[in-house]
Amino acid sequence: MTHYFHYQQDQLFAENVALADIAEKFGTPCYVYSRAALTDAYRQFADALSAREHLICFSVKSNSNLAILNLFARLGAGFDIVSGGELQRVLAAGAAANKVVFSGVGKTEAEMRLALDAGIWCFNVESSAELDRLNEVAGQMGKIAPISLRVNPDVDAKTHPYISTGLKQNKFGIAYAEALTLYRKAAGMAHLRVTGMDCHIGSQLTEISPFIAAAEKVLVLVDQLAHEGVKLEHLDLGGGLGIRYDDETPPSIAEYAQALLGALQGRSEKLIVEPGRVLVGNAGVLLTRVEYLKPGEEKHFAIVDAAMNDLMRPALYDAYHAIQPVNRSPAVAQKYEVVGPICETGDFLGHARELALDQGSLLALMSAGAYGMSMSSNYNTRPRAAEVMVDGSHMHLIRERETVAQLFAGEKIIA
Ligand code: LLP
Repeated sequence: MTHYFHYQQDQLFAENVALADIAEKFGTPCYVYSRAALTDAYRQFADALSAREHLICFSVKSNSNLAILNLFARLGAGFDIVSGGELQRVLAAGAAANKVVFSGVGKTEAEMRLALDAGIWCFNVESSAELDRLNEVAGQMGKIAPISLRVNPDVDAKTHPYISTGLKQNKFGIAYAEALTLYRKAAGMAHLRVTGMDCHIGSQLTEISPFIAAAEKVLVLVDQLAHEGVKLEHLDLGGGLGIRYDDETPPSIAEYAQALLGALQGRSEKLIVEPGRVLVGNAGVLLTRVEYLKPGEEKHFAIVDAAMNDLMRPALYDAYHAIQPVNRSPAVAQKYEVVGPICETGDFLGHARELALDQGSLLALMSAGAYGMSMSSNYNTRPRAAEVMVDGSHMHLIRERETVAQLFAGEKIIA
């Protein structure tokens, strides 16, 4: 728990606002973010990298609310996007297109057009076929597309297999052994301009060494290219720095940044990073209310009004999120399975949590700012949660709770 979420007389607060007041005003389930926590995380990054030319491209997939994108844009951030939809979001949030990098293995022609029209900083290209398509689309538009290749350095990120991306067997990036050949091909294409190199090895990394191993491998290629006359302007080392959910001990932002700067010492390329989770993860919680307590023979269930559609990480990755009572009670705690109302056994938010609960109690699922709302769905025709940003003593509704009418507005009954 960061100090932006803290207890005052047994009541859990976000900055100076009681979470109970937010639940009262906006209902539950509800995501709550701390503006100070977001700002603080971004500033730590920017300060730690200030010694060299850099661009911090917030990874939009981790949390794409316009208010959060706008906040980062005003702090000076660029953005890492993976779809045309995310591009439209960052532009709507006031971001400068020339601070956007576009990652992803499956960019469509329409997405390429959108990005070329907007004038993004760089396409992170992930295959030979994508180079061909981008060259063709840029040619049709009379434009030159700035590109880097996403190289797969084949290092083990030592993280959950679903979020590890830098191994040979992953679908991401260009095989290390093929990278130079493809760079030579790209350098000869009429409508592309080779500007950088990119790699991203996975998410929720809790050690520095894989990042450095990846950087070192990539730099060998950068030097080889320079030797052949292809001089790169930037180096994008991706995102992936982990956060503390439970008892993990990830490096601090400063330690991580220091290590990257060390690996790049004496080099002139601009450094790009694509952090997501570390900027937003611990800046948000998911507020939920206990609907029913259901004692069982073997386990006691606390059925809450948030579910796997609101926060998918436990069901999908068996991920741990701490669960804190919004009002600490002196009553005796017991072990609960904290579950949602969805008709799936996988719909759980926490196993065997020691809590003192009553029907109606409020709970906060901690560290839910990253890959929470952005991965939510409407399964079981559940409207998506509201989102609130706390700023000091103020609470701002930054996304209204969805209505059921919105959910089926586009559907048609046939004759
Ligand atoms: N850059 C690229 C190309 C990425 O694919 C990702 C995340 C990032 C940057 C940001 O990584 P971060 O700094 O947030 O670790 N849904 C999963 C995480 C999936 C990460 C996908 N890629 C989860 O909830 O743990």
